[in-house]
Amino acid sequence: MKKEKLVAESRTVMTELIMPNDTNPLGDLMGGYLMRWMDIVSAICASRHCECHVVTASVDHISFHEPIKLGDVITLTATITRAFNTSVEVFVEVSAADMPGTNPRQSNHAYFSFVALDKETRVPQKVPTLLPITNEEKKLYESAIRRREIRLILAGKMKPSEAIHVKSFFAEL
Ligand SMILES: CC(C)(COP(=O)(O)OP(=O)(O)OC[C@H]1O[C@@H](n2cnc3c(N)ncnc32)[C@H](O)[C@@H]1OP(=O)(O)O)[C@@H](O)C(=O)NCCC(=O)NCCS
Repeated sequence: MKKEKLVAESRTVMTELIMPNDTNPLGDLMGGYLMRWMDIVSAICASRHCECHVVTASVDHISFHEPIKLGDVITLTATITRAFNTSVEVFVEVSAADMPGTNPRQSNHAYFSFVALDKETRVPQKVPTLLPITNEEKKLYESAIRRREIRLILAGKMKPSEAIHVKSFFAEL
């Protein structure tokens, strides 16, 4: 296993055509189906980076800005933003367009966190570090440390007093 990897090595793209079974009675894509595809594409991306099995540890805020319609084509792109010790953060972007490619639009995005597990023992295992190259990759890499603190505090895995970057967001009780 490599000690350090590039974002491009694990970037994962998934395309889906929205079919009648995917929609609600208004003909719009069900939010839960979109979240399932977001989980799958980001898990494949995380697995490629970690070179092992991963489990979803948490999903940050997801909002749906505008409906995706029956017959639309959606593209989900997942990239690693940062690798920590045994976990990685993945940024997933969703865009939609009509079947012929007209009316392209950004739909939504989210950050997923995955933990790399040893297949036999299911114990978290160390992951390769990430080397960001482009300006965008560097921005996502640097901000990931703050998002990590927020999600671990909200999950009850870190005390606000242990945070370095976002301590002031939380009240000490
Ligand atoms: C995710 C899981 C493996 C973490 O196990 P754990 O015993 O809490 O592990 P640890 O406290 O040792 O933390 C291991 C890593 O997980 C990260 N982690 C734990 N909880 C997290 C959360 N809510 N969000 C993001 N990362 C989290 C830790 O930060 C740590 O990462 P690091 O080593 O890079 O710093 C465990 O909670 C689990 O198996 N959950 C179920 C996963 C699952 O079934 N997912 C599908 C849901 S349907």
